[in-house]
Amino acid sequence: MSTWRQRMLDMVARRPSGRLGRVVYGRLSGDEPLARLVLDGLGLRPDDAYLEIGQGGGRLLARALETTGRAAGIDHSADMAALARRANREAVADGRAHIVVGDAAALPWPDDTFTCAACVATFLFFEEPVRVLREVHRVLRPDGRLGILTPAEQARGVVSRLFSPWSEDVRLYTPDEMTAVLAQAGFVAIEVEVRNKRLLAFARTPDAQAGCR
Ligand SMILES: C[S@@+](CC[C@H](N)C(=O)[O-])C[C@H]1O[C@@H](n2cnc3c(N)ncnc32)[C@H](O)[C@@H]1O
Repeated sequence: MSTWRQRMLDMVARRPSGRLGRVVYGRLSGDEPLARLVLDGLGLRPDDAYLEIGQGGGRLLARALETTGRAAGIDHSADMAALARRANREAVADGRAHIVVGDAAALPWPDDTFTCAACVATFLFFEEPVRVLREVHRVLRPDGRLGILTPAEQARGVVSRLFSPWSEDVRLYTPDEMTAVLAQAGFVAIEVEVRNKRLLAFARTPDAQAGCR
């Protein structure tokens, strides 16, 4: 990919930054009805410890905190981490929210830290999806829940029209491909459906009695 194309893709979506990133992810993106379906599907509870991978401006994380006791977010954009901290400033101040700058492929938490995790509009950027999923699996407790929302292969036409230079630079999944990467990382109870050209995927880590961890 050329430097120009990389810079543009980073600025608007893959590693948002600057004024444009702050406007898009501070006000417009992150809390759409489809994203909320991920939280609904996770069935959040007050005793949950919630992790969001690529939380962007942190609007969905704020919504999760309306139910969960604790939440953490990780994003490799320092600007997005700052925006998410601002959007969740009270929870950050009282220690309920922890937002870090980092890579999804190397999560800075010990094993078995979280009960559930979400990843919205971010999975398409992972060059090593199984490596990321293994990390998520590691930090989830047994019987932990994962929800993913990402453009489906059916969205390729839309992606090509909107982001023609980048359509080859992101990874769009069929339900079978998504099921395969989740299974490869050790997830079970995998359910994947296509909604409005997006994949909505849910899976769990095996429970402790299954002895698979
Ligand atoms: C398109 S934005 C979506 C943000 C938010 N989830 C939303 O729906 O508004 C993708 C986000 O994932 C982050 N991201 C992409 N790849 C990442 C990686 N490998 N590790 C951590 N964050 C990543 C980007 O910085 C960006 O904030």
